Amino acid sequence: MSGFDIAPSLLSADFCNLERDIKKVEGRAEYLHLDIMDGHYVSNISFGLPVVKSIRKATGMIFDTHLMITEPEKYVDAFAAAGSDIITFHIECTDEPEALVDHIRASGCKAGIAIHPDTDIERLIPMAGRCDLILVMSVRPGFGGQGYLDGSTSRIARVRNALDECNSGAILAVDGGINAKTIREAYDAGARLFVAGNAVFGSDDPGRAIEELKACITR
Ligand code: DX5
Ligand code: ZN
Repeated sequence: MSGFDIAPSLLSADFCNLERDIKKVEGRAEYLHLDIMDGHYVSNISFGLPVVKSIRKATGMIFDTHLMITEPEKYVDAFAAAGSDIITFHIECTDEPEALVDHIRASGCKAGIAIHPDTDIERLIPMAGRCDLILVMSVRPGFGGQGYLDGSTSRIARVRNALDECNSGAILAVDGGINAKTIREAYDAGARLFVAGNAVFGSDDPGRAIEELKACITR
């Protein structure tokens, strides 16, 4: 990733036309964000392994798999085999984050750690230099189309500071409520990968929507 990027979230795409919608964002963004929900860690259920495996045949985009599931360690190898490039688990869903990072890396994927907006951000800080991506959630996980929570920006800034202090090259990502009004604030706080569902696939031209989000940072 050079500078920053958008990760369109497939959760807001048309599930009847996933390949068509992926083609609309391919070439505009490097990453495709895949929200996996189990009905336990979050109250919603989204999609799972067969879908990831199927869309892997349709695109070379970097699959940024966001596991909103309990017992993530049970599914790491399967999501790696299905074609994930990055596997992100929630810090709330394991007592052994270091072992899980090692497991994900051993599976051939980059390892990300996500944090729920209600979890003390300090819980994540010891892991800042020990993973490849940190995902600061700026909505309560489970649904697309929610508003960016106040307080998210200072949480991003706290993680940015921790990453810089240990010279970590980990990607700092933000997920939830990212749109033309919020992206700049998150960028200024230090985020560099912006997950966007509704702002991209809710548009009648998702490719143009990505360019417009990027322009909020570059102009
Ligand atoms: C929410 C998911 C998000 C979601 C973002 O639980 O993790 O990735 O798709 O959607 P928007 O951008 O619409 O808030
Ligand atoms: Zn997500």
